Amino acid sequence: MTPLGIGEIAPTAGLAPRARDLFAPRRGPTLEEAICAQLGLADIEVVETGIAALYIAMTYLKRQSPRRRKVIVSAYTCPLVVKMIAATGLQAVACDTAAGGFDLDLEDLARLIDRDTLAVLPTHYGGLLSDVERLRAALVATSSGVSIVEDAAQAFGATQNGQSVGCIGDIGVFSFGAGKGFTIYQGGAFIATDPEVMAGLRKVAAELTSQSALAEARRALLLAGYHALYNPLGLSAFYGARKRFWLARGNEIRAAEDDIPFPVAISRVGPWRKAVGRAALARLPDHLARSRERFDHVSKRLCAVPGLKVHLPAPGARPTATFVFVTLPAAPGIDAKIRRLWASRLGIAKMFSRAIVDYPDLRPLVLDRGTPHARALAATTITLSTHASLTPAAEAAVVSELQTLGGAPAPEAVLPSGVR
Ligand SMILES: Cc1ncc(COP(=O)(O)O)c(C=O)c1O
Repeated sequence: MTPLGIGEIAPTAGLAPRARDLFAPRRGPTLEEAICAQLGLADIEVVETGIAALYIAMTYLKRQSPRRRKVIVSAYTCPLVVKMIAATGLQAVACDTAAGGFDLDLEDLARLIDRDTLAVLPTHYGGLLSDVERLRAALVATSSGVSIVEDAAQAFGATQNGQSVGCIGDIGVFSFGAGKGFTIYQGGAFIATDPEVMAGLRKVAAELTSQSALAEARRALLLAGYHALYNPLGLSAFYGARKRFWLARGNEIRAAEDDIPFPVAISRVGPWRKAVGRAALARLPDHLARSRERFDHVSKRLCAVPGLKVHLPAPGARPTATFVFVTLPAAPGIDAKIRRLWASRLGIAKMFSRAIVDYPDLRPLVLDRGTPHARALAATTITLSTHASLTPAAEAAVVSELQTLGGAPAPEAVLPSGVR
């Protein structure tokens, strides 16, 4: 189904690695200083992964308020987030998404918040940002003292009204993992606007992080491998073949790599990977601008297809635009059609294979009082890559595939109100 001449398209618009990054000098500003200058941040701490940064944030908050046990997460988020919360000894609680969208459903949230609630984790996605201002206003109204931790793992470089994401909540967390746009293959960071919070987070990070030359050598090798293989051939062999293998066996969880275990140890990011990252960072603004152009172009074409819901950023929100979220009509047989598109080389995927309450291994770890919107969203939403290899021919192939799916109007009974 992928036309000849189109190679494997990465599912997200990763910043293209350059061989010379690997030989970047270590002198000059640090990676942290370069990030602060580029994103207009006062401070940032780079850690091993995005999930490690969230773990540090949760551990810090738990120590600040030991009696509060509940952490509210979006019912449509990375399953690793739930495993991370369980690892801190806290209780994850699933909050539904708003009908037809990705923001937290504030009515559901109001029902879940109580004196036992420690934090709420809104998720920023590569294709869409969460309205944290609105969330903050809703939380202030409850006078609950609940902290906001912005999970901006997919949104490093994204801005809301000109300000980096992660700054409106109490703590913000980024990932520099593969597939997130800017990457050092594995990496992450936390930020907090309050210097006292930042100092507290650093203290926890220092306690939880160990120095492991072996782990860093392994990651350095993976980063070099990523440089060698981030091309259509390498992607086809290491990403595409794996995904097709699991999709052919009906295992969407493994196809989406939703089965990653929570890491047992957190180790430090070494100076070489930081220097490689700092060299690549200089190209990020230009990369983001081009990804956003492709995002706008493909979104505009798809908005004209009847039956599809293309999720566009709210005014003032500038996501990293690594992909576009599109919700398809919930017609019979849609699962099989999505799997067929996902198995193609066209950069079509699912961000998460299902809502968090539907992962068998997460069921004992998350409280669920019913999250129907998130389940409908997860069942019918795909992601379209905005990678540079989305040539006009590839884009035409994507649009034509979706035209055949979008044509049929959604049956009223299947979708929750608002999903169009
Ligand atoms: C929403 C979200 N949160 C957290 C993470 C974890 O980030 P990392 O892979 O750097 O641990 C991811 C990774 O995919 C994610 O998508």
